[in-house]
Formats: sequence, structure tokens, C-alpha cells
Amino acid sequence: MELYQGLLTRRSIRKYQNKKISRPILEEIIKAAQYAPSAHNKQPWEFLVIENPQTLTSLRNVQRWTSFAKDASCAIVVCGNIEQTFSRDKDGEKWDYADIDCSLAAENLMLAAHAKGIGTCFCGASPMPLVIEGLRKLLNLPEHIRPVAIIIMGYPDEIPPQPEERYKPEKIHWEKW
Ligand SMILES: Cc1cc2nc3c(=O)[nH]c(=O)nc-3n(C[C@H](O)[C@H](O)[C@H](O)COP(=O)(O)O)c2cc1C
Repeated sequence: MELYQGLLTRRSIRKYQNKKISRPILEEIIKAAQYAPSAHNKQPWEFLVIENPQTLTSLRNVQRWTSFAKDASCAIVVCGNIEQTFSRDKDGEKWDYADIDCSLAAENLMLAAHAKGIGTCFCGASPMPLVIEGLRKLLNLPEHIRPVAIIIMGYPDEIPPQPEERYKPEKIHWEKW
């Protein structure tokens, strides 16, 4: 699939065929995620793959908008390593880039899946504190690991309509606002 066409045709997929995504294909998709840009090239991401149907079903108890995960082939929780990410906590400044780095990795992951005919849906985790804590308990995540995105995946069993025109030239500001 040509990259630009892939960017325009990726859609969130929430209905899946009863067909597993093989491990080698999952690894190729995660490889693409690991080629994403990251602040200071820290690559602070970790990928937790959930294939267990019970765990997929229980995701909805932790993040209420993931009920369709029960029929997915898998979900990949993209997590940030807070000890590894580019960050600052001194002189009155406190910030880190984990959520941004992991979101970029997640987009690469979704586009790589799309290129292989696999549907995905990005479901949010960080910055919702209850969801972060719920995932921590459900998945045994250590304190320095923050879940950023739950990418639910499977071979599509729906063809969502392409969206209305999203290109809005008025959102582009040339030189000054
Ligand atoms: C930060 C973020 C959080 C999202 N969380 C959810 C979610 O919890 N459940 C869900 O079904 N979709 C979720 N989505 C998917 C959006 O609903 C979807 O991207 C949007 O409707 C546009 O549709 P498209 O992905 O087909 O272009 C999320 C997307 C983003 C970027």
C-alpha cells in the first residue's frame, strides 16, 4: 500500500473476523512502531500484547469504551517507560514526553497494520488516572510503566464509510495566526 493512500484510508475498525493475527505479522507491525520518532531518540516504549479472550473481555471494566475488544484477535497496550523517556523534574519544571512518543509509535503501529489488511482502533489510556491504575492492576504493570494507548486489532469484519471531507484549508495558518 502506498504510504499517502494508507494515511487517508485508515479507519478505526471495531468489528473483527474470527481469525488470529500470526506472531510473525504482529512482530513486523510492532517493528514499524519502534521506528517512530521519539524525543531525544529515547525510544521509551514497551508493547504488551493481550491475546487471552478473558483479558480482552475484561478491558471494558477498566476502559469503558473498549467493549468490542472481546471479539478482537488481540490488543497491544503501548506503554511508556517513565525512567527512560526524555523528561525534566527540577527548577520548577516537571514534564515528560512518554505520552507523545508512545502516541507516535501507536500511529506507526496502526498504519503498519492497515498496510497488512489488519484493522485497529486506538483506545485511550493515559492521561486518565483511573484507566492507568486499572490497567496497572489488570496487567501487572510496574510503577515506572505508564499505559498510553490500547490498540485493539483484528482482521476487519466491517468497511466503515470514508469520512466526510476532513481537509480544512482554514485550519492552516501561514506565517502568523
Ligand atoms: C486519544 C484517542 C482516544 C480514543 N479512544 C477511543 C476509545 O476509547 N474507544 C473507541 O472506540 N475509539 C477511540 N478512539 C478512536 C476515535 O473514536 C477515532 O479515531 C475517531 O472517531 C476518528 O475515526 P477514524 O479513526 O476512523 O478516522 C480514540 C482515538 C484517539 C486519538
